[in-house]
Amino acid sequence: MTAAAIQLYRSGSANAHPGTSARHGAPELAIVIPTFNEAENVALIVAALDRALHGIAWEVLFVDDDSADGTARQVFMLAEADSRVRCIRRIGRRGLSGAAIEGMLAVSADVIAVMDGDLQHDETVLPEMLEAIRASADIAIATRFGGVAMEAGGLSLVRAAGSGLAARMAGTFLGTTVSDPMSGFFMIRRRVVHELAPKLSIHGFKILLDILASSNGRLKIAEVPFTFRTRKFGASKLDSRVVFEFLGLLLAKYTGDAVSMRFVLFGLVGASGLVVHLIALRLAMSGGVDFTLGQTAAAYSAMTWNFFLNNALSYRDQRLTGVRMLQGLATFYVVCSLGALANVGVAQLIFSNSGTWWIAGTAGAVMGAIFNYAATARLTWRRA
Ligand code: GDD
Ligand code: MN
Repeated sequence: MTAAAIQLYRSGSANAHPGTSARHGAPELAIVIPTFNEAENVALIVAALDRALHGIAWEVLFVDDDSADGTARQVFMLAEADSRVRCIRRIGRRGLSGAAIEGMLAVSADVIAVMDGDLQHDETVLPEMLEAIRASADIAIATRFGGVAMEAGGLSLVRAAGSGLAARMAGTFLGTTVSDPMSGFFMIRRRVVHELAPKLSIHGFKILLDILASSNGRLKIAEVPFTFRTRKFGASKLDSRVVFEFLGLLLAKYTGDAVSMRFVLFGLVGASGLVVHLIALRLAMSGGVDFTLGQTAAAYSAMTWNFFLNNALSYRDQRLTGVRMLQGLATFYVVCSLGALANVGVAQLIFSNSGTWWIAGTAGAVMGAIFNYAATARLTWRRA
């Protein structure tokens, strides 16, 4: 295009939306909304944003994980009529944090808000959050505490207590002093997002906590209270697994990413496998099977147990199914058999040097677990 043509192109199209004024550049504010089965909510949210953000140049980006209820289809329909609405449809992917990060990295606005797509977050506080950022904050957190959130709204007493506890734990472990580090509702400068993005975990729900932890207290933080509304349509995706993820994130950040929650889960599954092993051995022996055969059968029973439990828990986010599950089971057997060799080898070495049976035994088991973990991460649950 020649300069003249660009000029013509720029002045040609009329501007349908107040607030975006004559500029065709990026709006000041982009709202990123991760969605999973929120078809009934998206149109209501766009309408609510339109009302709340009068006079502000904004756009909204939904990041949908291919919801079966047609959420993405709904968003694309809205987008046809309103160029401020956009959608990323992700296929074969799941995860709130990952979706939020992907969305934040895909917009060009100076300021980015992340908000839930179920109307639980009160969009009318967005202008106040934007004011805080304009006034110098790097991040404005919409907090469920300090407002009327405790008595009213969608925050049950149990959940309020849980979130309060989590906030205190986060305060102790990470040195963050915000009232609601678990909030899924915040606004942040794009510059900061791009700076921190490589450090953020795509797993779990705790994106804000992760941002705060990764920034090492360098961010200027503002807090804006809001009332957490109850959900009208659809269901919450937050379950007990989220608690694990939270503990996992604390652990990972506290140990400088040395120990992951996946490894802890893997270790716990391994420990439960020992119980299965002993039960199977006992059954075999009482059934008259000789020890060597019984021990072998028990070992494979435990491996099978461990594989399925790891597949369901430790590797829940990349669970293997169908043929890939059978292949995974086969590589798991191979790796764990080698892991047993590593285990016995290390244990023997230490035992012959120190002679303390339990130190040798424990060291062998830890060695075997680390080997199994590292090898199955590459072979069994490698990313396709
Ligand atoms: N793309 C995508 N992928 N979106 C998801 C996924 C996913 O796997 N899981 C959930 N979402 C979307 C939902 O559609 C919704 O828009 C938003 O993320 C929040 O999910 P909810 O299932 O409604 O979570 P919640 O209300 O239980 O939890 C909220 O409060 C927590 C604090 O108590 C969230 O804001 C959490 O981030 C927050 O920690
Ligand atoms: Mn919700």
